[in-house]
Amino acid sequence: MVEEEEESLAKVKKTTKKSDEKESQLIDIPGVGPGAVAKLEAAGIYDLMGLAVLTPSNLAETTGMSEAVSRKAIQAARKMMDLGFRDGLQHEEQRKEVDYITTGCKNLDNLLGGKGIQTKAITEAFGAFGSGKTQLALSLAINVQLPKEKGGANGKAVYIDTEGTFRPERIRQFAEGIGANPEKVLKNILVARAFNSDHQMLLLEKVSSMIKDGEPIKLLIIDSLTAHFRAEFTGRGQLADRQQRLNRYLHDLMKIAEQNNLAVYVTNQVMSDPAQLFGDPTKAIGGNIVGHACTYRIYLRRGKKDSRIAKMIDSPDLPDDATAFMIEKDGLKDFDV
Ligand code: GTP
Ligand code: MG
Repeated sequence: MVEEEEESLAKVKKTTKKSDEKESQLIDIPGVGPGAVAKLEAAGIYDLMGLAVLTPSNLAETTGMSEAVSRKAIQAARKMMDLGFRDGLQHEEQRKEVDYITTGCKNLDNLLGGKGIQTKAITEAFGAFGSGKTQLALSLAINVQLPKEKGGANGKAVYIDTEGTFRPERIRQFAEGIGANPEKVLKNILVARAFNSDHQMLLLEKVSSMIKDGEPIKLLIIDSLTAHFRAEFTGRGQLADRQQRLNRYLHDLMKIAEQNNLAVYVTNQVMSDPAQLFGDPTKAIGGNIVGHACTYRIYLRRGKKDSRIAKMIDSPDLPDDATAFMIEKDGLKDFDV
């Protein structure tokens, strides 16, 4: 068994990407200098697409630039981008590229549509401490290395750890649970500790450059997405600033996911919501910004008999179902109520 899994574990050869052609940036727009870029970014516009979809009056209002300048910038951005249509078949063809990573547990996979988390998407797990967010992250970091026919994406994982909770011992246990070689599995997980939110943001550039250098990264984990932002921007007056930076970060994550056909999994804490009188009085940190940016959100909480309940909260194409699982020594297991 061990032998066989070893054979089938990701043959993670480096394949240098050919697509080195640089994507146009805001600064490449004629007539847009560093000052204008700063204004655009302050308004939450980070790329040509963000600009191309605005109207001149809208842009003038949010940035304080004149309407004439705004119009020119928008027209230039539209010209530089190919704002063409794709037909339904082309769209379908592109969706076919999507890969899946099994959570290691049938119930959770089914909640996520049958095959686990998807590439080209951000999946968020939010919940209280001990609800299983990190355990799920660890399971995914192993399973991404499996070949496609075994529920993986034949690639490596990047684990951005903001809280120092990455545990190699747990990876070993999970790996043994599926009969894989723990050393090999650990070698295919690239771990970085992010010490503050700036560092956390900077690490994404490092991830992009590793991918360009040919690292076959198919899963990017941010555990936790929000903890640093929450700890650093505490004052009331800093909320807008925090949300803006989170927005930017999520935007960058989505871009990495789409451009490299990789899956992003983020964890998020909850806070109590005094406005909620019935049901579970908790809500995810980061509000609408995080909610809208994440493609799939699942809420984790403790259930009876030490189980965990997972509920799909927001999804473009899946029902808001709930299911249960167990966290065990050698992995995540189904729990049937
Ligand atoms: P925070 O990061 O604190 O917000 O929580 P989290 O949601 O990331 O929690 P995590 O995924 O780390 O879950 C921790 C829980 O997993 C523990 O309370 C245990 O119930 C369970 N757990 C962790 N390790 C083991 C293990 O080796 N065996 C078993 N059976 N359960 C474990
Ligand atoms: Mg955790």
